[in-house]
Amino acid sequence: MSTTAPDRQQENPLAEGLALRRTPDPCALVIFGASGDLTHKKLMPALYALAVRRLLPPRFAIVGVARTGGDDGSFREDMANAVKQHARDPFRQDVWDELAAQLHYLATDFADSSGEDKLHGLLGELDEKEELGGKRVFYLAVPPPAFPTIVEALGKRRDERGWTRLVVEKPFGHDLASAKELTATLLEYFKEEEIFRIDHYLGKETVQNMLALRFANGIFEPIWNRQFVDHVQITVAESIGIEARAGYYEQAGAIRDIFQNHLLQLLALTAMEPPIDFTSASVHNEKVKVLRALHTPAPRSVVRGQYGRGFIEGEEVVAYREEAGVAAESMTETFVAAKLYVDNWRWADTPFYVRMGKRLARHETTIAIQFKEAPHPPFEESAAEGVRPNVLVVHVQPDEGVSLAIGAKVPGQGMTIRTVHMDFLYGGTFRTGMPEAYERLILDTMLGDSTLFTRADEVEEQWLLVDSIVAAWQRDKPSFPNYPSGTWGPPSAEELLHRDGRAWRRP
Ligand SMILES: NC(=O)c1ccc[n+]([C@@H]2O[C@H](COP(=O)([O-])OP(=O)(O)OC[C@H]3O[C@@H](n4cnc5c(N)ncnc54)[C@H](OP(=O)(O)O)[C@@H]3O)[C@@H](O)[C@H]2O)c1
Repeated sequence: MSTTAPDRQQENPLAEGLALRRTPDPCALVIFGASGDLTHKKLMPALYALAVRRLLPPRFAIVGVARTGGDDGSFREDMANAVKQHARDPFRQDVWDELAAQLHYLATDFADSSGEDKLHGLLGELDEKEELGGKRVFYLAVPPPAFPTIVEALGKRRDERGWTRLVVEKPFGHDLASAKELTATLLEYFKEEEIFRIDHYLGKETVQNMLALRFANGIFEPIWNRQFVDHVQITVAESIGIEARAGYYEQAGAIRDIFQNHLLQLLALTAMEPPIDFTSASVHNEKVKVLRALHTPAPRSVVRGQYGRGFIEGEEVVAYREEAGVAAESMTETFVAAKLYVDNWRWADTPFYVRMGKRLARHETTIAIQFKEAPHPPFEESAAEGVRPNVLVVHVQPDEGVSLAIGAKVPGQGMTIRTVHMDFLYGGTFRTGMPEAYERLILDTMLGDSTLFTRADEVEEQWLLVDSIVAAWQRDKPSFPNYPSGTWGPPSAEELLHRDGRAWRRP
């Protein structure tokens, strides 16, 4: 166990072994987009958390690249502030000093070839000084239009002595055609196993716990199918609006921002067959089978919405169309709900109801497996009127954990049954802070493990479905806005389930 792990974690026997992981090879991590939001809010705080836990390679260098002017000194200062503001651990000067000594900055533009020469030169120097052996992780934290220029420059100057890994941030394309084009560009210079497409949801502990829950426990798998499961509900709800991202969001909408990647990945992990092992190829193979089995929903099985004015936590908020940078008549959707079917033996005829949106009543991501009702209740109807069918809920965020709704007898003379919840709360059980998704994902790229990333064929299947939904949307024009901020979406989302005699879970 790491000597720097929080004391409380050491007291807990369940937490034993939590810090035991392979340490990556010495390497250089080059972050393109080092002056951007992602680097400040996620990447640098994650690197700091890894440093606190001594999980970074013994010999290591981080090179930040961006066009904005600066040098090693200003970059270190900027990153120290980012860590103080966004890291999950308190700032420790000793840890920071060690990490800061490994930080370098290159102000350059890859649109002109001097950029690649400078980077090549700097990496050569660092290789020699730190004995990094030509091992590199290139992290593309830049807007997608900048990808091809950088990829081409890197591909042409590959260092064949060590290994090379390329991390690509979302969005991976805008539709199937652009995703294929991007993959083709990457494959010109990199092998598929060198490409790490980030879907940061897959780095979340509770998403991985879905796999542990299903495949490390004998009791769930036999009932994880159409015979026992009535339906599945997946909710990715945000209470925030689009913040300052109108430029991106107006083009993407909820379907490209969340549905195409995070939501379909959660569905794939829920519905996939048990992989024969936990290697990345086996996991990807099973996920892609689910994505292939998803067929295009009928237009009436897809609902879209856009938020109007309303209240979030007592504060009045503006409508989507009133947000800075959004067109006054914008038809961009901020909410999508759909009924999907996975056409295979395990799930045929079992609906997967999914919904995601902004400015909803609560910030939460959950996967709920609703089981069928008990076939024959031997109790009087009135005794069991408070009983609902069993539901297993995986709380991805916040309050990470799992809860199972079961019928239990109310104490007393009669036989009255009520639904109660058996809860497992992650933080409470393991008494440890939850790692941020980016910590796990950055470490995995250095370790060369792409299990928690998205393979090209998965991305393409996801786009195929999204393209077919978006094509159907061209035919009608809903009246937007159609849900007030602070609610659970438009009434048609409720009707989607009511038509089937069901209802959305209420948190
Ligand atoms: N922010 C998030 O939480 C988040 C979450 C998921 C995915 N992402 C993805 O991560 C990427 C970066 O997002 P961000 O929010 O950090 O964006 P951002 O704040 O706009 O930063 C973009 C970065 O890329 C650099 N850049 C911009 N245009 C460039 C060009 N043509 N060539 C080279 N560098 C260029 C910028 O630096 P200079 O102008 O100094 O060159 C800046 O460092 C995007 O693909 C985004 O979709 C971000």
